[in-house]
Amino acid sequence: MNPIEQFQKETRENIARLGEDKNLQALSLQWLSCIGAPKYTHNFSWMGRPIIQLPQDIIAIQEVIWAVKPDLIIETGIAHGGSLVFSASMLALLDLCEATERGEFLDPSKPKRKVVGVDIDIRAHNWAAINEHPMASRIEMIQGSSIDPKVIRQVHAAAASSKRVLVCLDSNHTHDHVLAELEAYAPLTSVGSYCIVLDTLIEDLPKDIFPDRPWGPGDNPKTAVWEYLKSHPEFSIDKSIDHKLLISVAPDGYLLRR
Ligand SMILES: C[S@@+](CC[C@H](N)C(=O)[O-])C[C@H]1O[C@@H](n2cnc3c(N)ncnc32)[C@H](O)[C@@H]1O
Repeated sequence: MNPIEQFQKETRENIARLGEDKNLQALSLQWLSCIGAPKYTHNFSWMGRPIIQLPQDIIAIQEVIWAVKPDLIIETGIAHGGSLVFSASMLALLDLCEATERGEFLDPSKPKRKVVGVDIDIRAHNWAAINEHPMASRIEMIQGSSIDPKVIRQVHAAAASSKRVLVCLDSNHTHDHVLAELEAYAPLTSVGSYCIVLDTLIEDLPKDIFPDRPWGPGDNPKTAVWEYLKSHPEFSIDKSIDHKLLISVAPDGYLLRR
């Protein structure tokens, strides 16, 4: 075994051990239970745009994007655009790597890989800032509810010519809404790619954390994932991602399509 394989083997074993470490898992959940009130997930940005995610999940999604090498990423829930810009920047790097490998010139005005984002309420200042961003040429935004049949048709049309699609769901976090999103968009996930469902963590947090929200324990993205998986054996939860992260808003939310 060469040193690279040795390192990878040790890391896999380490992650498997973390999957058994109930103490560390409980401590991580305790920490996660305390970060809602100070809005910890609002603290970060990607290339200047606020990204409402934990840094751990951003790294995990980066690993997924690198492994899958999608040509299209579909996202529901845009907010300030940080996750869209993150995805677009990863896709720009993939295009650059591919062009470099082939010895081709990369024409920045003709991006190959793209991201499509859907949000029911794209505020004017966010719309403008995203459109003015250097990554804008890779970003298509659709305003409307992600479960509106017209919006679903638009997203499917955008995906029609794509070979490898990754999906990220991060909009309204009720069970019914996420289940409807899964029905609408998970089938677009390519074999070997992921449908990532964010904020499944809600199921594991105390009920009183969400006094003014329609979601909470028993009604959230994780319950929707569990329901969806009952009739969709082509998807399975990639537990190794949960085990490596410990700190994540998406436990049971990294769904691998086989
Ligand atoms: C958690 S934020 C998204 C954060 C973003 N993905 C990021 O990482 O920065 C949730 C977004 O979902 C949007 N949203 C709520 N209900 C929606 C719906 N029915 N369809 C589409 N978007 C919706 C909200 O307007 C809000 O911008």
